[in-house]
Amino acid sequence: MRRLCGIILSIILLLTASSVWAKPRGDHPLSNIAIHKASIALHDSAYIKAAPTILGLRGQNSDWVSVEYNFPNASFNDWIGVFSPANISASICLPESPRVSPPLLCIAPIKYQFANYSNPKYQDTGKGLLKLQLINQREDFSFALFSGGLDNPKLVAVSNAISFANPKAPVYPRLAQGKSWDEMTVTWTSGYGIDEAEPFVEWGPQVGDRRLSPAGTLTFSRNSMCGAPARTVGWRDPGFIHTSFLKNLWPNSRYKYRLGHRLFNGTIVWSQTYGFRASPYPGQDSLQRVVIFGDMGKAEADGSNEYSNYQPGSLNTTQQLINDLGNTDIVFHIGDICYANGYLSQWDQFTSQIEPISSTVPYMIASGNHERDWPGTGSFYGNMDSGGECGVAAETMFYVPADNRAKFWYSTDYGMFHFCIADTEHDWREGSEQYKFIEHCLASADRQKQPWLIFLAHRVLGYSSASFYAEEGSFEEPMGRESLQKLWQKYNVDLAVYGHVHNYERTCPVYENACTSQEKSHYQGPLNGTIHVVAGGGGAHLAEFTTLQTRWSLYKDYDYGFVKLTAFDHSNLLFEYKKSSDGKVYDSFRITRDYRDILACTKDNCPSTTMAS
Ligand SMILES: [Fe+2]
Repeated sequence: MRRLCGIILSIILLLTASSVWAKPRGDHPLSNIAIHKASIALHDSAYIKAAPTILGLRGQNSDWVSVEYNFPNASFNDWIGVFSPANISASICLPESPRVSPPLLCIAPIKYQFANYSNPKYQDTGKGLLKLQLINQREDFSFALFSGGLDNPKLVAVSNAISFANPKAPVYPRLAQGKSWDEMTVTWTSGYGIDEAEPFVEWGPQVGDRRLSPAGTLTFSRNSMCGAPARTVGWRDPGFIHTSFLKNLWPNSRYKYRLGHRLFNGTIVWSQTYGFRASPYPGQDSLQRVVIFGDMGKAEADGSNEYSNYQPGSLNTTQQLINDLGNTDIVFHIGDICYANGYLSQWDQFTSQIEPISSTVPYMIASGNHERDWPGTGSFYGNMDSGGECGVAAETMFYVPADNRAKFWYSTDYGMFHFCIADTEHDWREGSEQYKFIEHCLASADRQKQPWLIFLAHRVLGYSSASFYAEEGSFEEPMGRESLQKLWQKYNVDLAVYGHVHNYERTCPVYENACTSQEKSHYQGPLNGTIHVVAGGGGAHLAEFTTLQTRWSLYKDYDYGFVKLTAFDHSNLLFEYKKSSDGKVYDSFRITRDYRDILACTKDNCPSTTMAS
């Protein structure tokens, strides 16, 4: 009761100022809530209460909560917002201008659901019960009942606060390849800053001695954000992001690890124990399996924040990857990671969703428009797709072995594969810093040892029949293949995979818009061109194809899915496209060839020769 009075008092004080606030931008479901217009309408006999008050008592970082509520003036568009931290009246924004007062509430909920969801009689009875899933996000939680719909929220009642047993616990490990083949990096999130505890990883072989490796700690502040909503209602403290470098790994060996924080009183707070398999030595012959997709996003298993089909798409893809984890060695999520779009709480929820995958195999990411783009901040595109994050969240939450994580291009080796990952949100054209990197990366593959050379990027720099590209007449991101095809051809790139377009498409081996082979399923000998694949159906709303049938497009699928590459040895590669709905293969091809087939000269790919002997 005292808590409720406190909230009312602070709200009344704030209400004396007028609330003028720019509508948050971005297409996140949370942006549908006009939280900046929230007003107070506390009702004497309305209540909302949540149980249990302590979550994660068995050490788990995800738990279910029952929320019970009653409102005599119930309406069909009443909704429940989950707030964290619980004290929402403390979420005060500073005015951006001395003449404009800040809004009443300056924090978007971390999720929401309508009060009549699973309670069809709510409007008549005013009573409802919701089951919601929460994850450990460092702070406590409260639940607020609003009337007035999402457009004109009126706060009717606020619940008791609930919390995880240890809100600061180390959570959601993300493995990534280091800068050398024998190094694995572990990145995780916690509530422990370096003035409170020392972060480290305890790790070692399945059987044998364990060792400790220290971790570095990063975070970012509201001032690191470039605009709204990331700087305003979408801001939420990201906690501390730790990265440890596990070095001198034995090729293909299995390791166990757990995350630790040594408090200054000597106590150690541990995570659960996880395991991974070290990368093979570059060029080493072994069974190697790679999963690639883009644009997965996150979704809520409890049905909240329903939006554009992310629920079936994103959750199905995640589940299929988990089901096949025993047959997967490395994952590439090539941009448009979680579509937080400036609502920072969503990064925790995404890293929680992928934890079973990212804690077990390297989870390598690329940068997309929804991570990076913001006007006037150096992104190649001047749109607002990052919701003001301007790359900071992605570059901090995930490690990639780039020289500079703000320029998100890098190379990585996995046995017989050599990957060159481009950053389409920065200039790639000839003469640019990135173009030099791409050429150097492609030239670095010793094809006798690493025959499978793969180019990855978020936007489609090669070929796509997406209607929005076709209507521009480009069938690609403008200036894509015009800039890069001579490099792909010169260095015999086998496969280029993109996201951004939310569907699946595969081309013939192609150079300068023409197929270099008529084969469709089993390529033997030289490819003479590059096979381009769109694998952007990870989970975000699907993208239409044009009805025009080009010569280079071999297979199109308007559905959610992902790509899997299996290298059996230096001469045999299997490509598969699987649907996220059932995990079955719907398109595939094989490449069978020898080293001399890669060396074979075709148009524009061999150095000049001499008659001298
Ligand atoms: Fe995108």
